[in-house]
Amino acid sequence: MSDGDGDGELEARLVEQETFEPSEEFVEQANVSDESIYEEFEENWPNAWTRAADLLDWDTEYSEVLDDSEGPFYEWFADGTLNASYNCVDRHVENGDKNRVAIKWEGEHGDTRTYTYQDLYREVNEFAAGLRDLGVEEDDVVTLYMPMVPELPIAMLACARIGAPHSVVFAGFSADALATRMNSADSRYLVTCDGYYRRGDPLDHLAKANEGLDGVDHGIDATVVVDRLGDDGFGHDLKGNQHDWDDLLADHQGDRVDPVERDAEDMLFLMYTSGTTGEPKGVKHTTGGYLAYTAWTSHSVLDLKPEDTYWCSADIGWITGHSYIVYGPLALGTTTVMYEGTPDYPERDRLWEIVEKYAVDVFYTAPTAIRAFMKWGSRFPEEHDLSSLRLLGTVGEPINPRAWKWYYKHIGDEECPVVDTWWQTETGGMMVTTLPGVGTMKPGSAGPPLPGIDAKVVDTAGEEVDAGRAGYLTVDKPWPGMLRTLYNNDERFIEEYWSEYSDPDADEWVYFPEDGAKIDDDGYITILGRVDDVLNVSGHRLGTMEIESAIVGVEGVAEAAVVGGDHEVKGEAVYAYVILEDGYEGTDEMSDRIVAGVEDAIGPIARPEQVIFTPELPKTRSGKIMRRLLEEIANDEELGDTTTLRNPEIVEEIQRKVQE
Ligand code: WTA
Repeated sequence: MSDGDGDGELEARLVEQETFEPSEEFVEQANVSDESIYEEFEENWPNAWTRAADLLDWDTEYSEVLDDSEGPFYEWFADGTLNASYNCVDRHVENGDKNRVAIKWEGEHGDTRTYTYQDLYREVNEFAAGLRDLGVEEDDVVTLYMPMVPELPIAMLACARIGAPHSVVFAGFSADALATRMNSADSRYLVTCDGYYRRGDPLDHLAKANEGLDGVDHGIDATVVVDRLGDDGFGHDLKGNQHDWDDLLADHQGDRVDPVERDAEDMLFLMYTSGTTGEPKGVKHTTGGYLAYTAWTSHSVLDLKPEDTYWCSADIGWITGHSYIVYGPLALGTTTVMYEGTPDYPERDRLWEIVEKYAVDVFYTAPTAIRAFMKWGSRFPEEHDLSSLRLLGTVGEPINPRAWKWYYKHIGDEECPVVDTWWQTETGGMMVTTLPGVGTMKPGSAGPPLPGIDAKVVDTAGEEVDAGRAGYLTVDKPWPGMLRTLYNNDERFIEEYWSEYSDPDADEWVYFPEDGAKIDDDGYITILGRVDDVLNVSGHRLGTMEIESAIVGVEGVAEAAVVGGDHEVKGEAVYAYVILEDGYEGTDEMSDRIVAGVEDAIGPIARPEQVIFTPELPKTRSGKIMRRLLEEIANDEELGDTTTLRNPEIVEEIQRKVQE
């Protein structure tokens, strides 16, 4: 068996096999195992969504499931009231499960922390009391700029408890990115951390946070800083309005804060994500619809049971972590695992060591990780007993059949169904995937739309395409987990998602996620990737415009065009074509400055794989950059039509440089 290449590790039998069925054993125990659920949602739509709402405890019952009178500003369970923190914490304590583990946290060094639901209850209450003490009121946006430490979900739940929406900013983002998001949300409170460990070394996160705070235009009322590094810390002194997390909790030891009764449509959180323009979009999610939707999909797709130990290896700084590390699993009373570090530290078996150690039942990760595991070889998972696993999931980008099968064989031992879940920051939760206890799996294809989700594949005129033809994914009916608007920007909300295929005069609203797709005869949808200027690098969503504006911010750069090129592990990698001003040269040093400029403006995740200096960019006669060509060059593909170019001669020159 060859090591380090996926191909040699799959037998011909698996390579050939096109469909897979869940085992009888899995189906017997599955939360949802009857295919009549699809019919039920179709016949009884939208009221079938009470199934989702019934997974929650409501303070006031809602009288109407969906209010569609103001499309696309839909409201779900609108006159109901509830509290998300109560649903994720208190009710499990009250129901006799206070000693069940809520969060199992594993530090990079193997240090661990365990929070039972009772522990979580205590700490969420104390921190909620602390936030109040610092002046946080209902509807104030609290920014959380934190790595994977237990204090992050605790802070989220404390915010939810007092009705203060949180805005989590991924810890890998730069100081500038933090400032942009705090300015946009007019957020006056920040919870952050002194640092965290990456590949054995402590990182100075607070320096970055402080630099970000300097870029905030309005006043900051208070900052709370978690001490993660202890003696490894960088010795920053806390400033006047900065508070140590432990001291704040100590001041509020034993305090209890009544969960605030929130309207179902009240904002639970904001999450910034990349779009076509340079300005990140503040996606607004609500308390009732979002929580019901994440609980429902955790139940029906992840098949979570309260007694499960479940691990989603995403970062809470992205939507996947919000929905499927924190809100969904905790609403169901499950044990959720959090890991601070990277999959290859100290060794490439780290994740499998954790699966074995905690006897993880359900594991959810990204194709970029699976491709890396495959490249490293099967001997790493083989070193561990993974027999506790019952179900596997993937999310974030298309997964090729070979990677799917490798995952199925080498992690799931051909016994665990694999759910390939398509969704987005905006959809709040999973939309297109098989139900593991019901459907046939087809590697490479996400599956049919979930019950109640009216997804289609259409052409540019909005007509459904024939099976096998490429088209655009659309969603015709609203669903509870959908974004409600873009923060303070209803206009952009309509323009971005509802302008392409809707007919406002007829009050017909069609959601356009900006993904290409195809559909087969069984109604299974294969996602082909973004059709807008958004890249998907290692499952992280990045706007080409954001990266371009970072690059033109570097001294000496006149113009830049960024495209995605195929990458074996990352899925896509950033290729930057750059034109310099007169008097500047395309040296290695210049290239380094450009990479550093991108890291400063966004973060290391957006760093260009290659910077290509060119005297010109291929442009059409009307002056538009021909990105398609730049992509083809990055991918070393045969070039399409260049006759419409104003400057066709530049193409060969650029090609030569990329190959250098
Ligand atoms: C892509 C992540 C193929 C897609 C939850 C989408 C996928 C974007 C899949 C959203 C999948 C997500 N198969 N592509 N299973 N899941 N995508 O907002 O292009 O970070 O539009 O949400 O990721 O990325 P976001």
